[in-house]
Amino acid sequence: MKRQLTVLVSIVTLTSLVLSACGSSTSAPPASETQAPGTPAPAQSTQAPAETAKPAAGSGKVEIFSWWTGAGEEAGLQGLIKLFKEKHPDIEVINAAVAGGAGTNAKAVLASRMQGGDPPSAFQVHGGAELNTGWVAAGKVSPLNDLYDQEGWKDKFPKDLIDMVSKDGNIYSVPVNIHRGNVIFYNKKLFDSNNVKAPTTFDEFFAAADALKAKGVTPLALGDKEPWAATMLFEDVLLGKLGPDDYNKLWTGELPFDDAKVKESLEIFKKMLTYVNKDHAARNWQDAAQLVAKGEAAMNVMGDWAKGYFTTDLKLKPNEDFGWVTTPNTNGDFMVITDTFALPKDSKDQASAKEWLKVLGSVEGQDVFNPLKGSIPARIDADPSKYDVYGKATIEDFKKSKLTPSLAHGSAAIEGFATQTNQIINIFVTQGNVDQALKSLKQAADANGIKK
Ligand code: GAL
Repeated sequence: MKRQLTVLVSIVTLTSLVLSACGSSTSAPPASETQAPGTPAPAQSTQAPAETAKPAAGSGKVEIFSWWTGAGEEAGLQGLIKLFKEKHPDIEVINAAVAGGAGTNAKAVLASRMQGGDPPSAFQVHGGAELNTGWVAAGKVSPLNDLYDQEGWKDKFPKDLIDMVSKDGNIYSVPVNIHRGNVIFYNKKLFDSNNVKAPTTFDEFFAAADALKAKGVTPLALGDKEPWAATMLFEDVLLGKLGPDDYNKLWTGELPFDDAKVKESLEIFKKMLTYVNKDHAARNWQDAAQLVAKGEAAMNVMGDWAKGYFTTDLKLKPNEDFGWVTTPNTNGDFMVITDTFALPKDSKDQASAKEWLKVLGSVEGQDVFNPLKGSIPARIDADPSKYDVYGKATIEDFKKSKLTPSLAHGSAAIEGFATQTNQIINIFVTQGNVDQALKSLKQAADANGIKK
């Protein structure tokens, strides 16, 4: 595991998600309206039975805020809630999840609640810029150093990860997982029957895509109804083209966004887009992953929550129904997406909220959550035997890979830049103007203070 991530996270320019989000309109629809098609409504309240209920510290209530609803997202959270209720039958759990992949709607709802003095007890936030230049810089979350000391956690999480959730010597959230963002999931039967091998370079990727296309198979499934999915594909191309060191330099401004290699990345990305399903703009990430699951497309570039969706929801078998490989030229690199939970400073029942954090930071909690979610445990002392072949391999990969932060998932740069990149990439997907996209990315980086 290498240290780039650490340096990077601390250098990212200070601009506040909260300040910008609070100044903007928060018109995201409520959970029931923002739900992915075909997914069940998020649970609203899971009150403990009356006979076991007894007053806990404060109001004896935890309201947990996340975007984990529906297929591929919800099972892990429900596993944690169940474990929490077994340990704390006297604390009421309110699941305040807001649907929408990557927090598309949840982040705006959260900003509005935080600003309006109605914070949840604990909220999902990515480690890195999203936490540190957002909520921590705005003074909205409590330091958790005491909790880490009390639970003996300081040497139970990788140091790089603790650095990602720390600012100025204080630790501000508890990581529940590590997702990998640079993965191609592919339909194994389609690959085998068409004699296609898992591609490891861009040339191999395009050769495989051509071979599949020639057989009438859609090579690449994309679901960019929520634009972050296309941004993810682009950031994986950037990582493959730039390599981890230069990729990391983008976020410190040491490598400008109008660099020739960024231009080449846009060209590769544009070429990839010629192999995607026609209805990509109408699909969310689950809908796109499902094309691969059903054999209607061959590959999908997605974070390994797609693996959770395949195994937990669709009951597919790794290495039989689906295979995986790192995205072109990123073998040895690990695009890190870490889901963590933070404690708002002015939430009502801090004692109960801390009990929630303790459960999700425990080995037991992590080993309940992550096998369902598709991620690996954030703790180094979790039990690998609880993980399937994909999980075990990813746990090992994480230890020896160069780590890079995801832009699409909040860690690499301030929220303002991530949002603008989503817009730029969204326009690029329809218009394909490389020079325009390059110029817009550079302007957005400058406007958001991403410079040397
Ligand atoms: C990411 C998050 C993952 C998963 C994904 C899709 O931002 O870290 O846990 O939920 O979005 O919604």
